[in-house]
Amino acid sequence: MSHIIDEIKRRRTFAIISHPDAGKTTLTEKLLLYGGAIHLAGSIKARKAQRHAVSDWMEIEKQRGISVTSSVLQFDYDGCRINILDTPGHQDFSEDTYRTLMAVDSAVMVIDAAKGVEAQTKKLFKVCRQRRIPIFTFVNKLDRYGKIPLDLIDEIENVLGIRAYPMNWPVGIDGNYLGVFDRQKNSVELFAADTSHGQIERISEIFNADDPVMIDRIGQETFDNLQDDLTLLDEAGDKFDRSKVDAGDLTPVFFGSAMTNFGVQNFLEEYIRLAPPPAPRICSDGIIEPDDEKFSAFVFKIQANMNPAHRDRLAFIRICSGKFERNMQVWHAASDKIVKLAQPQQFLAQDRQIIDEAFPGDIVGLFDPGIFGIGDTLTDASHKFTFEEFPTFPPEKFARVQAKDTLKRKQFVKGIEQLTQEGAVQLFNQVGAGTESFIVGTVGTLQFEVLQYRLKSEYGVDVLLTMLPLEVARWLRAEDGRAITPSTLRGADRGMFVVDREDQPVLLVENEWALGWIKDNNPKLIMSPTPFAD
Ligand code: G4P
Repeated sequence: MSHIIDEIKRRRTFAIISHPDAGKTTLTEKLLLYGGAIHLAGSIKARKAQRHAVSDWMEIEKQRGISVTSSVLQFDYDGCRINILDTPGHQDFSEDTYRTLMAVDSAVMVIDAAKGVEAQTKKLFKVCRQRRIPIFTFVNKLDRYGKIPLDLIDEIENVLGIRAYPMNWPVGIDGNYLGVFDRQKNSVELFAADTSHGQIERISEIFNADDPVMIDRIGQETFDNLQDDLTLLDEAGDKFDRSKVDAGDLTPVFFGSAMTNFGVQNFLEEYIRLAPPPAPRICSDGIIEPDDEKFSAFVFKIQANMNPAHRDRLAFIRICSGKFERNMQVWHAASDKIVKLAQPQQFLAQDRQIIDEAFPGDIVGLFDPGIFGIGDTLTDASHKFTFEEFPTFPPEKFARVQAKDTLKRKQFVKGIEQLTQEGAVQLFNQVGAGTESFIVGTVGTLQFEVLQYRLKSEYGVDVLLTMLPLEVARWLRAEDGRAITPSTLRGADRGMFVVDREDQPVLLVENEWALGWIKDNNPKLIMSPTPFAD
């Protein structure tokens, strides 16, 4: 038992969230470099470039071997076992990205110092906030011009609505910082010239703030300015409060530069010190403690294997309690059956390998003969319960999908309904349009290509996809409970009136402005970005 407790205590399971190009890949790679999991930075970035260069979805899927192995990275640092979960960005952005955040215990938010808080960061941040997990901020690209540090702190607080505590502070002037001042250690870490483009670990010069040599190195004026900034932070800023960090109400902010490795090691060390190990989880039985000796886990992601020769898929589970052992038999809540967890895989930085045991906080990939679904609970057969259901996320991209060959309509309807059940896309019917075509909603555009490809390869149906200029969905309900139809809704023709799989009315519109018009003109209407719960 104490072995399990020790293993749990040293787990740190997190995801890095950011807007594309803020530096997530670079930071991930540098964490692996310092963790000793890779010896030369550059390999992951090279593969990412390769992945984005291919446009054909089949080709992307061929590369999936790569994206699968990199969807969870595990390494050890300073006695801790670190699991980094990938949250795909760019065109890969999907519900998977959101769902991955259900499986982590904390998140690292990377912000580009020149751009501040960007759209995708906001969306991902919101999901983390709902879960009330600790969020750590890395303000990246300090090696070049960016926004003023105080403005960035303000922006984080005002745009995201979380308090921020700078753990370190840039020394010098924007675009030419000399280093960062560490507020915890009362020391300054100076930038060192780096000719390797950050391929190898850096060794920084660190001076105690009272060391007269430091003033010599940075100059009296810079030193005085730094003192002014620090006084301002101490007097006007938040105090560091660990309990607020734990509750996700205060984000520790680190300034650095992933590309030049500046501040990365210090960030990693502080992160490991402050980030939480696996926490208790809510389930139908109350609360499940990670050190409960009975095994439990849930499925948070399913990766379809595109090889038509074998239809198997990989289901990723997050272990919540107990010890996982290869070939163990567990209860699968959704089917109410006992299943054997054979061929479990774990992912190291470069390759996957079969594992024999794993602990709470770890992610294991299981071969799935088609029985697992997103959100499924697995428990020890002697203690059956289910974890909370996954939230649904509002679709933002819409397309009309129709079979090219009308004679294939039956297979088309069957295929699209089955694929919708897997949960990657949401299906709607345009009122009055019949089943000749469907409206499909997703959170990212890649899913349309996936849908198109799978309908063809698994159901033999060629489909025509027409992207629609719509970005917002609202489920509709009348305050007085009356039915809502296109003729009772004022301005229904300003968007597209559809029904979901449960026949609930939904209006799809182009933007928030159009939504405002509908709101103003239908005062008794209740609108929700996701289906109504009851
Ligand atoms: P992402 O995963 O969040 O999309 O971002 P990624 O790490 O790919 O970084 C996006 C771009 O920002 C890359 O440049 C990367 O080199 C650069 N970058 C990352 N960290 C820093 C930093 O600390 N300072 C500076 N100045 N740049 C940084 P790129 O031109 O797209 O690629 P590459 O030519 O460097 O490979």
